[in-house]
Amino acid sequence: PSLKSAGIGSALMRHAVAEAARLGHAAILLVGDAPYYGRFGFSAAKTGSLAMPGPYERHRLLAVELVEGALDGVHGTLKAAGRKLKALAA
Ligand SMILES: CC(C)(COP(=O)(O)OP(=O)(O)OC[C@H]1O[C@@H](n2cnc3c(N)ncnc32)[C@H](O)[C@@H]1OP(=O)(O)O)[C@@H](O)C(=O)NCCC(=O)NCCS
Repeated sequence: PSLKSAGIGSALMRHAVAEAARLGHAAILLVGDAPYYGRFGFSAAKTGSLAMPGPYERHRLLAVELVEGALDGVHGTLKAAGRKLKALAA
């Protein structure tokens, strides 16, 4: 609690967004509070025709384009596209 509002969350977000852009991703989607993520460019403006496979609050599905127009006309249900890693033994 003593470190809240010290800019750590924003620094992590800016780093993550820059890293995603550096790796060539065209957009980032997340489920979160628009009043917080709006400052990093996220909004629900282009997620209206997208759905998550499980339960979530639709108005909290937000996106930011890293490549302009990357989310124009997107629709459908999101699905994981990353590599699956084996769980490490405890
Ligand atoms: C949200 C979170 C990442 C912020 O971390 P942080 O290091 O305090 O972030 P920053 O210092 O960069 O920013 C703090 C600012 O965000 C604001 N803020 C925090 N949560 C917010 C929210 N849900 N909605 C609107 N603003 C929010 C704070 O009021 C503060 O405003 P200020 O800059 O005017 O003082 C952190 O509190 C956290 O992990 N919370 C639990 C999970 C969560 O709520 N995640 C977001 C929704 S999924």
